[in-house]
Amino acid sequence: MFNLVIFGGPGSGKGTQSDLLIEEYGLFHISTGAVLRDQISRGTELGKIADSFISGGNLIPDDLMVSILGKVLDENADKIDKGVIFDGFPRTIEQAKSLTTLLGERNMKLNTVIGLEVDDAELTKRLIKRGQESGRSDDNAETIKKRLEVYHKQTSPLRDYYIGEGVYAAIEGNGTIADIFADIKVAVEKAK
Ligand code: AP5
Ligand code: MG
Repeated sequence: MFNLVIFGGPGSGKGTQSDLLIEEYGLFHISTGAVLRDQISRGTELGKIADSFISGGNLIPDDLMVSILGKVLDENADKIDKGVIFDGFPRTIEQAKSLTTLLGERNMKLNTVIGLEVDDAELTKRLIKRGQESGRSDDNAETIKKRLEVYHKQTSPLRDYYIGEGVYAAIEGNGTIADIFADIKVAVEKAK
């Protein structure tokens, strides 16, 4: 089993590179953003709560997010034999600690953190472009600015946290999708 976190700012390519990782390694993909957007589109109670945070570019509270992730892991226990890609989780140090616990309780462990390093100008450019067709409530100039602020304040400290844990693999995230994936594969093979 091989479990990885794909880490990076909004628009860094976490979803794009996850698709390639699924194809290459048969891993099970959990995008916490996608889980929440699914709840929003189905109009559930959780979706209503999530929408109020997401559309403002803010994070969903840690305890709620951790309980959602535990549920997703358990509901898909039969599909995660090869391992899991955690996309968009953790986003705070608190969540990172909870991830260690959630994995430990299920006899799993984190093998590597793939950190897609992309500058803010490129992130903004990609998200503005996607915003023209995505329909995502957070792909507009004002919310993108807020997402970047939240990323730098609450999420980017995880880079040092995972460097300290000895599992962080820095990936140059500017460039072509194929070149970036080639670098990711090297990092994954090294962590195996
Ligand atoms: P989430 O869904 O995780 O969004 P995000 O982190 O803002 O990132 P994106 O999904 O927008 O980008 P991505 O990195 O996946 O890049 P992509 O491949 O799509 O979270 C959304 C919200 O949910 C959060 O703001 C928060 O409110 C909430 N949330 C989620 N998880 C949470 C948690 N754990 N705790 C609390 N709250 C949480 O690529 C972006 C675009 O760029 C695409 O159009 C793509 O085609 C293009 N692109 C990709 N790679 C390249 C490349 N190399 N060159 C050019 N273009 C590229
Ligand atoms: Mg994504």
